[in-house]
Amino acid sequence: MKLFLDTANIQEIRQGAKLGVVTGVTTNPSLAAKEGIGRREGYKAAVQEIADIIDGPISVEVVSQDAAGMIAEGREISEWIRQPWVKIPSTLAGFEAMSTLSRDGIKINQTLCFSVNQALLGAQAGATVVSPFVGRLDDIGHDGMALVADIVAIYRRHNIKTLVMAASIRHTRHCVAAAQAGADISTVPYPVLVQMAQHPLTDSGVARFLQDWQKAGGR
Ligand code: G3P
Repeated sequence: MKLFLDTANIQEIRQGAKLGVVTGVTTNPSLAAKEGIGRREGYKAAVQEIADIIDGPISVEVVSQDAAGMIAEGREISEWIRQPWVKIPSTLAGFEAMSTLSRDGIKINQTLCFSVNQALLGAQAGATVVSPFVGRLDDIGHDGMALVADIVAIYRRHNIKTLVMAASIRHTRHCVAAAQAGADISTVPYPVLVQMAQHPLTDSGVARFLQDWQKAGGR
């Protein structure tokens, strides 16, 4: 399972890139707004900076509600960087836009996916990757990770090539569960990536090794 960073924060992306464990980045209008980006030119500049840091797929979301607008935006976004994944919502207009853009060879990240049926439609519309939103389903008392597992199982059973990306990840248990469910990718907020590295026994172990080494006169 590959790890993407779910953020538009350049410092977080730089930090994640240094670790060498981040394959791609996902952004959305909320994440852009969090960084003070509210205009197209600002979003474009930020995405181009991200693409200079991470040599992998960068997901960029459309904001239009209608198919024609999404298609126009998708075509524009696809020119911004070398590996764009255009994020399109799982709506009727979205599926229409996905079909058109994927026929043009543009890579699509089907976002805001909350059901197997939406994932089946996205696959038929040519989505490169589908993003089931785990945390938001958990928030309303559903089992978000069960959706990931169902999509993975059904795609494999029907030999569907669309990748499955666990999104709306809230904590490290989600990362483990996504890997167990067979997700191809998990896109994680930076604090979750940091938590993945942490264990108190690692910290105390490092401290004890150093202590023993120093007691023996080691330098
Ligand atoms: O990748 C989708 C993600 O950004 C949504 O996460 O935390 O807003 O539900 P969240």
